[in-house]
Amino acid sequence: MDNRTQKMVDFFQKLYGSAPQKAVQAPGRVNIIGEHTDYNDGFCLPMAIERDVRIAVSATESASISVASCEKQESGAVTFDLCADVTKDPDHAWVDYVKGCVVVLLAEGIPVRGCQMVITGNVPLGSGLSSSAALEVAVIHALLCAAEHHMPAERIAVLAQRAENSYVGTNCGILDQLSSSCGMDGSAMLMDCRSLALTPAPLPKDVCIVIADTGKRRGLVDSLYNERRAQCEAGAAALSVSHLRDVSMHGLAAAHAKGELDADALRRCEHVVAENGRTFAAAACLRAEDSVALGYLMDQSHTDLRDKFEVSCPELDAMVTFARTLPGCLGSRMTGAGFGGCTVSLVQRSEADAFVQKLAQAYQAAYPAMPVDVFITGAAPGAGLLDLSA
Ligand code: GLA
Repeated sequence: MDNRTQKMVDFFQKLYGSAPQKAVQAPGRVNIIGEHTDYNDGFCLPMAIERDVRIAVSATESASISVASCEKQESGAVTFDLCADVTKDPDHAWVDYVKGCVVVLLAEGIPVRGCQMVITGNVPLGSGLSSSAALEVAVIHALLCAAEHHMPAERIAVLAQRAENSYVGTNCGILDQLSSSCGMDGSAMLMDCRSLALTPAPLPKDVCIVIADTGKRRGLVDSLYNERRAQCEAGAAALSVSHLRDVSMHGLAAAHAKGELDADALRRCEHVVAENGRTFAAAACLRAEDSVALGYLMDQSHTDLRDKFEVSCPELDAMVTFARTLPGCLGSRMTGAGFGGCTVSLVQRSEADAFVQKLAQAYQAAYPAMPVDVFITGAAPGAGLLDLSA
């Protein structure tokens, strides 16, 4: 058992007076390319990362769920009744993710048992690495463990997304939950957000993925995310299709010429249509082991996200600019919803350690007040049981 799991098990024992019966994990994700495409039924190219949420769990005979966080030990366990209309508690907003999963499982007629949980996580919160999805997917795994019920990984992702949409209130797509639930050990994956098909897309051995957290937190921008989504939906409606996936650049231009799309809507839609094309091309680059071309597509993606979709911010732009000046960097872009959080860079493996150090230094010099975190990650497996005996 590694240090983090041991600490979680010790806290569980201290809090509830016995050892946990089971433990599960669900990883965060980084999206290499394919941003703001998932809710347009498009394509993404994510991988699960080596940071995760872990939950220790034991079933109980009570009709309630108790949940505590290793990172908030002083507040102890929060307990709520196991019922279909469990209410939110603004003093413990993080528990909403647990409640949302319970409500969704109950609504689906899936057995949910009373249980005790302790949660620990090292996916930085609100940083574009899917800390929320990792929590939701881990919670559903823990609840299924407690009830001794099994479910395919893809269905877990869909229910986790529903918890976020219908209970927490962010109108996110499927990218984060599907990446966390179905991550492939050692491989990125091309995700078709319409069929939910995942195709392995391993990175060439001589490159690696570097994540750089700007320290800027998204904060209260869920409304901006929901607004972008609504703009895309309005664009699709103007073109009489269900989703922007079914639209071409030519179709957009024609609709604009006919006055069916204003200039703002056109820019948003152009990003989505181009990004779908780039993501498909990126998967082909990986198959051809053409990392230079992949890096170029990542750079273009950032430019569109900044100028057309307008979800970047000065901190993300600065991190990307610094990265591109460093030796070994093939491409760099913001990752996730934007408005803060992390960048993802494609870097030659031989230069990666120096890149990590120099990027952190450059950013820190420009933003001395920001806590910067730059790290290399491999592609991690998706969510599953943790071995407590080892
Ligand atoms: C967030 C959402 C995802 C996706 C990305 C942008 O991470 O949760 O569904 O829309 O933003 O690509």
